[in-house]
Amino acid sequence: MTTKMKLVKPDGSILEFHFAKGLHSSRTYRHILNFPVREDDIYLATYPKSGTHWVWEIIIMLQKRSTDYEKKVKEFAFLDHRDISTLADLPSPRVLNCHYPRHLTPKEVLSKGIKIVHVQRNFKDVCVSAYHHMKDSHERNTTSSFDEFLPLMLGTYGIYWYCSWADYVRQWEIFTKAHPDQILNIYFEDLKQLFQTTLQDSVQEIRKLNTFLGTGCKEALIEKIALACSFHNLKKADAEFKENPFKKDKRFDMYRKGDVGDWKNYFTVDQSEQVDKWIAQNLPETQLAFRYSL
Ligand code: A3P
Repeated sequence: MTTKMKLVKPDGSILEFHFAKGLHSSRTYRHILNFPVREDDIYLATYPKSGTHWVWEIIIMLQKRSTDYEKKVKEFAFLDHRDISTLADLPSPRVLNCHYPRHLTPKEVLSKGIKIVHVQRNFKDVCVSAYHHMKDSHERNTTSSFDEFLPLMLGTYGIYWYCSWADYVRQWEIFTKAHPDQILNIYFEDLKQLFQTTLQDSVQEIRKLNTFLGTGCKEALIEKIALACSFHNLKKADAEFKENPFKKDKRFDMYRKGDVGDWKNYFTVDQSEQVDKWIAQNLPETQLAFRYSL
């Protein structure tokens, strides 16, 4: 199945964007599947727009036991769309990050029992965040409206060609049942909750990460990491400090809004019901519990 989206590039030229499995060659799949991992790598798995950057920064701080921002952006350790041989130059411990689904995860991540952190976010906010990513980024700049975009997210391959959001989270749910000690699942909404409550009870998710990764940070440092990785602080660090040679358009901001429930500003009642139905059909018998507002 192929879905097309019309893109208008900044120079005015028009490109048709295909959402289909065929876009990524089997060569890319093989490279990812056979990617050599190190025993001390951490593997951060996310469907796009689910909080990858956020959790990557938190893990780096936990590992370094410091709230100093890492100069390099997470894209240095990003497996998708890259010449992944460059990842061999990164010092250990690496926080590898990848959007490929479970069935396309590097085989050694599974065979070597590498620690996996999976971040998941409610699908409606993922749709809005993905829409902005497609619309605002230089390469993919599009004039399509949200109404035109949403059906693409409900296709077999989602926006990311590999599989839909529902398939993605279901695959990791199944994996978690079989390998509960190898993976930590984090909800974006639980992390965000952090800043809605008092900081005292706010660091639950980061505490879980600290225990799972064995990073040994004390409570006071965990609280500082939570603050250093708040939306506004990361946005500022990204704009003023971090080194990002992968960013082609300086205007594009990965730290867009960072809210839970922004979908309500985009979805009509009909669209929301349509998505609820789609989730019920495509994610049956799940024990995952997504929150759509805080
Ligand atoms: P929005 O587009 O809804 O603002 P990813 O890193 O997987 O591409 O996810 C990007 C999304 O995570 C963006 O969502 C971004 O704003 C949000 N995000 C990043 N850091 C965040 C933080 N500290 N707090 C809340 N949201 C954050």
